[in-house]
Order: sequence, then structure tokens, then C-alpha cells
Amino acid sequence: MKMIETELLLLRPITRNDNQQVFSYRSDAETNKYQGFIPKTIEEIDEFIAKNPSEFNQPESWFQLVIIEKLSYEIIGDIGIHFIGDDGFQCELGCTLNKLHQGKGYATIAMKATIDYLFNKLNKHRITGSVDPKNNHSIKLLERLKFRKEAHFKESLFINLEWVDDIVYGILKSEWKT
Ligand SMILES: CC(C)(COP(=O)(O)OP(=O)(O)OC[C@H]1O[C@@H](n2cnc3c(N)ncnc32)[C@H](O)[C@@H]1OP(=O)(O)O)[C@@H](O)C(=O)NCCC(=O)NCCS
Repeated sequence: MKMIETELLLLRPITRNDNQQVFSYRSDAETNKYQGFIPKTIEEIDEFIAKNPSEFNQPESWFQLVIIEKLSYEIIGDIGIHFIGDDGFQCELGCTLNKLHQGKGYATIAMKATIDYLFNKLNKHRITGSVDPKNNHSIKLLERLKFRKEAHFKESLFINLEWVDDIVYGILKSEWKT
């Protein structure tokens, strides 16, 4: 089921058969060192996929989309959407790309299309991103998309056995220009 399409990319809900491809880049501990979830086995990815809600846009859920490069039809990464709260007006986004496909602008394109969809089709009010201050690529991505830095929390998250800072970026529907 295709959900979002751009000239170069397709985004659709993650499915069971995606496990090998998603595992191949999600298990890369160096690339993903700022993420809480780094699977060591394919079973962990299977559980991650099984947890994906059957419907998009459910209150208090995380929904995972895979990003497919149209040219090769390969899964090159994923976008997680956290539908925050019960009122349905706010989301948080997370994006992960296979290292082989970083530095080509794909995350920017995929995030842009997802944000367009959330603001313009689903009428969301505010979208946020939460990043480790050392995660330069992620910060650059959010700034490229014109998110504003809203907060810097000191040692507010315990990830991979250490307390880490968390920077929150945000953008409102009224600020979003495609
Ligand atoms: C966060 C992440 C997805 C960003 O990936 P990215 O490849 O840097 O982002 P893009 O795909 O948008 O590519 C942008 C880069 O490609 C370059 N680029 C090349 N062609 C481009 C194009 N047509 N359009 C835009 N940028 C282009 C840009 O100059 C930029 O390079 P720079 O960072 O050296 O300035 C990636 O670093 C990642 O997967 N990290 C691990 C997971 C993670 O920590 N995620 C964040 C937690 S939510």
C-alpha cells in the first residue's frame, strides 16, 4: 500500500517481509549510536514490525513507514511517526537511512513529503523532532527543514547505558512552506 510518493521515493507502512532489509541498516551500531533501538538479531526487528499498529494516525502510537528508492525498488530507510496524545494534533518524527544512501538528500525529500502529508492531509498542528546534541546529521536535517530549536534538556534520557541530553526541534503548520 503506497502512502506517500515523490519523484524519487515511495513511502509505505513497514511489513513483515521487510525484516531483512530493515535489519541490514538498523543493526549498524555505529551509524545508529544516538538511537535507543539497535537490534542485534532479526527476531528483534520482527517484534518491532509486529508492534506496528494496523492503522495509521492512532492516538499515542508510533507508526513506521519504510522509504523505498523508486529506481532500485530497495528499502533505503524508514520514518517513524509518533502520534502524540489523544487530541490528534501533534506528531514527533524520527528518520533513519541506510548508510549507503546517506548524503544524497533522500532523508530531506522523505521528511518533507511526510510533513506535507501530516500538515496538509491530516491537518496536524505541530511536529517535533528529538535529537542528541552530538547527532550532527540529524540536527542538520531538521534545520534544513526549517524546524526551530525549542529546548535543550540536560541528561534527560537514559540511552545505551548513559544519561544523554535531548534537543527538541519543532515546527507549526502555520510556519510550514513547501
Ligand atoms: C539523520 C539521517 C537520516 C540524515 O541523513 P542525511 O543523509 O544526512 O540527510 P539527507 O539524506 O537529507 O542528505 C543530506 C546531505 O546530502 C547532501 N545532498 C546531496 N544531494 C542532495 C539533494 N539533492 N538534496 C538535499 N541534500 C543533498 C546534503 O548537502 C547533505 O550533506 P551534508 O550533511 O554534508 O550537508 C542519517 O544521518 C541517519 O540515518 N542517522 C542515523 C539514525 C539517526 O540517528 N536518526 C535520528 C534519530 S531520529
